[in-house]
Amino acid sequence: MKIAIMGGSLRKDSLNLRLLGHLARTLAALGPKVRIAAGNDLRIPLYDADAPPPPGAVSLHNLLADSQGLVIVSPEYNAGIPAHLKNALDWVSTMRPSPFQGLPVLLASASPGAFGGARAQMQWRATLANLGAVALPAGITVPLADRNLDADGVPQDPRTAAEVQKVLAAFLDLTGRLGARP
Ligand code: FNR
Repeated sequence: MKIAIMGGSLRKDSLNLRLLGHLARTLAALGPKVRIAAGNDLRIPLYDADAPPPPGAVSLHNLLADSQGLVIVSPEYNAGIPAHLKNALDWVSTMRPSPFQGLPVLLASASPGAFGGARAQMQWRATLANLGAVALPAGITVPLADRNLDADGVPQDPRTAAEVQKVLAAFLDLTGRLGARP
């Protein structure tokens, strides 16, 4: 079982990147092979229908096409999806074969705010549905993340820590059921 995990912001101290690291380590300990697309992997030129897909988009397409599940760890900007992550997905959505059709996706987000990125996840759900992906109904939200995540991205609040374990287990269950891809 191969799981791709993508996200974080482009800044080096990204809370979402920290969370991504924790989720990647936790998932890998449960068995799947986990591969990460973050930071410079997601510095992809803006989508341009007149240009061929840039190398970053080709790499991301290859990664997703060879994965049975995807975790998106997304910051929330202005109650929505940050541009660099939407741009990356937009590029891959134009490439064939589509890696999104039937792909199980787990949404996770961290924010210093009280909503933990839940509004960005609502936008993600609309985009993923359009792509034919299967988003797990439950997502992981980490509110007050500047206080709640330690340096390794481990939630300090027991409620959040328990939610992470429960939702990751549900995601692996979904991936096991739907993830039989060549
Ligand atoms: C934000 N932030 C933010 N947070 C939130 O919970 N809801 C929001 O709508 C917004 N809007 C927003 C817009 C823009 C342009 C920026 C730069 C930031 C705050 C954001 O959650 C915070 O900066 C996080 O720390 C960003 O994620 P990383 O970089 O820590 O992963």
